[in-house]
Amino acid sequence: MNARRRTVLAAGAAGAAALATGCGSDSGDGGDGGDTSASPTASAGATDSASPGASGGVELARTEDIPVGGGTVFKEQKVVVTQPEEGEFRAFSAVCTHASCLVSTVSDGTINCPCHGSKYSITDAAVEAGPAPRPLPAERISVSGGAIRLT
Ligand code: FES
Repeated sequence: MNARRRTVLAAGAAGAAALATGCGSDSGDGGDGGDTSASPTASAGATDSASPGASGGVELARTEDIPVGGGTVFKEQKVVVTQPEEGEFRAFSAVCTHASCLVSTVSDGTINCPCHGSKYSITDAAVEAGPAPRPLPAERISVSGGAIRLT
């Protein structure tokens, strides 16, 4: 009798350990450190993102955070914001239309997926290379007072 109870307890402990291991090994994908030089969020400390009610959206970045002729990937929000021409901002889903990896870098006029090499135009997210079957879907943003917000 006693042995049976012990077996159950042991199994329970093993299960818990397996769960803990599963949680701890979430290394994510596409998270290479060698991406663009752009900082993902305002680093000057001059701004704080929360300003509810201003124009209804979540502030994603400041306009100066987005390089002209390039862009910045916001992994948490799964959005990539580009600035093809000075003062012209675009936003697209950062989820690759091939197999749903997160795009990781923006360089040489394209948004790049690390998984199988798809490249999308920074202007309209059209597929420029790789196995992606479709452009990245557009996301809606508003730009005012130097703030870029998801709407
Ligand atoms: S998931 Fe992006 S290229 Fe395959």
